[in-house]
Amino acid sequence: MHSPSLVALVALGPLLASAAECTREFLKTSADSLVAAQTAGDPSLLKPVSPGLIYHENFAAAALQSGILASPIKIDHSRHSLDTTQCATYTELISATGAKPYVLGTQMWFDPEAGAISKMDTLISTTGDWLFNATGTLHWASREDWGAIPESQRNPRAVIQAAADAYCDIFSDKSVVVPWGRPCARLEGGAYTGNGGPNDRCDVGIPSGASLVDRRYVIDETVGAVSVFLSFSGIPDSHEFRVEGGKLRYVHTITVMSARGDGKGKGRRRARGVMSPPV
Ligand SMILES: *[C@@H]1O[C@H](CO)[C@@H](O)[C@H](O)[C@H]1NC(C)=O
Repeated sequence: MHSPSLVALVALGPLLASAAECTREFLKTSADSLVAAQTAGDPSLLKPVSPGLIYHENFAAAALQSGILASPIKIDHSRHSLDTTQCATYTELISATGAKPYVLGTQMWFDPEAGAISKMDTLISTTGDWLFNATGTLHWASREDWGAIPESQRNPRAVIQAAADAYCDIFSDKSVVVPWGRPCARLEGGAYTGNGGPNDRCDVGIPSGASLVDRRYVIDETVGAVSVFLSFSGIPDSHEFRVEGGKLRYVHTITVMSARGDGKGKGRRRARGVMSPPV
């Protein structure tokens, strides 16, 4: 009794189901499960995970089951970027009022065929990391607007990425023209370059002689956000940008000094005068 078209549809069903996985809804559901897993300290709540998952913490190979997700952490603030083009997500997590303070950044990369997370990188910053202050991070992050940008005002992915790249390039080349917004504010470890007012600016205290390389981008045009995981002269680092009208509005960084290979990161405290990690 089946019509040919229905038969065809049924046959196509599994194919359509997996091809259709990489929607904003799919990505958001999975990123939300990351927050649930971290809150509970139960990695099995993270879904859907590919059996061949490549999992890194602070850019080193780690085990999902015994990693940071195995510790319950009170999450005071979370925000996702959803990249349907690359089938990837970025999540910022802040814990300031729990047993131990954390600021975490996670990029998840999905295999769109399998509809599952195939690669995952988490940066874990805590007390002792560069300028670390989760109370400050929570304070400023929760006052910023990273909401949806009206469709007619959205920038293309290339423009958003170019703004991030210009900022990252200026650390090694002062001739680069960065599209500074005004206001613009940088949140680094918990320190803020502004006070939330109209005159906040980002073009202050940027040292030279650092190389920000091995950049991995997750871009969400709907909110003008780009997450960049990179090596900050060898230090595992996250730079995240909110771009409005082609210009930088917010910059968030997570810098994992304790993961620094030469051991100098251990016990590092507040750097004086500069707003970038001592290198
Ligand atoms: C951390 O940030 C909070 C909120 O901005 C601030 O009140 C506090 O003094 C900061 N702590 C340190 C050690 O800088």
